[in-house]
Amino acid sequence: MPTTLTIKQPDDWHLHLRDGDMLKSVLPDTARHFARAIIMPNLVPPVVRAADAVAYRERIMAALPAGSTFEPLMTLYLTEASSADDIAAAADSGLIRAVKLYPAGATTNSDSGVKDITRVTDVLERMAEIGLPLCVHGEVTDPDIDIFDREAVFIESVLEPLRSRIPGLRVVMEHVTTSDGVDYVKSGGDNLAATLTTHHLMINRNHIFKGGIRPHYFCLPIAKRQSHQLALREAATSGDKSFFLGTDSAPHLDGAKESACGCAGVYNAPNTLSCLAHVFEEEGRLDNLESFASLNGPAFYGLAPNVNTVTLEKRSEPVEYAASVQTAEGPVTVFDPECALHWHVS
Ligand code: NCD
Ligand code: ZN
Repeated sequence: MPTTLTIKQPDDWHLHLRDGDMLKSVLPDTARHFARAIIMPNLVPPVVRAADAVAYRERIMAALPAGSTFEPLMTLYLTEASSADDIAAAADSGLIRAVKLYPAGATTNSDSGVKDITRVTDVLERMAEIGLPLCVHGEVTDPDIDIFDREAVFIESVLEPLRSRIPGLRVVMEHVTTSDGVDYVKSGGDNLAATLTTHHLMINRNHIFKGGIRPHYFCLPIAKRQSHQLALREAATSGDKSFFLGTDSAPHLDGAKESACGCAGVYNAPNTLSCLAHVFEEEGRLDNLESFASLNGPAFYGLAPNVNTVTLEKRSEPVEYAASVQTAEGPVTVFDPECALHWHVS
């Protein structure tokens, strides 16, 4: 086993940076390790029009640490009132790299999302024409469907019919959490890919309930049983170009998570690379870490991989990272993988 690994600098293909004080507090943790990230648009109110993305991008650039070359890749939030022309112009100018589909009510700040996918057909057809990817939160919202089945039901009842209607649409199934999702993506051809999060590779649903309710492991889609976790680990570490990193790092104030109705999201930006090296080493696939974290994502998005490299070094002393990040409004707990991490990013 090697003890150092140099890879092209990674990108994060699914990231929540929030806004205001929270943005200022969390952005350095991503900018430290990642060259680029696809920025989720689920602010309140959401980033719907091109002008919203211009303004949000400016706030992100203003919050970057001095000297950072981090590049935010902007997205727009799809609503039933979205304009195909506005989206196409934003893509044409290079402002946005993707559009995000939230089924209304599926997750944090998704109330303005899409209730009926057939009402956005004109937008999706235009996206297929111009090759603009659709990032999909792939869960149905029907309260009668068991929360652990919502991804599998979404594939069958929404995604497959949509992709049959518009086969040219490029789709990223985000934060896939089931073997159903992995199998669907493997058989989906060149227009379909998936992101996998750091935490879904390291935890399964047992972690959420170990000795009590553990709100910092609650995210959406919710972690599934271990057999699904193992399928995700196999997909991530296989080198298959359809799978790449989207951390879904999603900071919330501790007070909002440690509550009678705690919100969904795991904040993993500070220790993601150390976690990933740990997982890939456990799977005996360190040689595929670069594909997953640095190569497959840009290839799907039609971008060149980064030129810079990062080196990971395995040392006997564990990686030290703060248990929480301080913001002006309070602490945000960092993802705890419940094991010592030994891969240091230099
Ligand atoms: C995300 C958030 O907090 O914005 N939460 C989460 O649990 N993943 C939203 C999302 O990506 O679903
Ligand atoms: Zn997310």
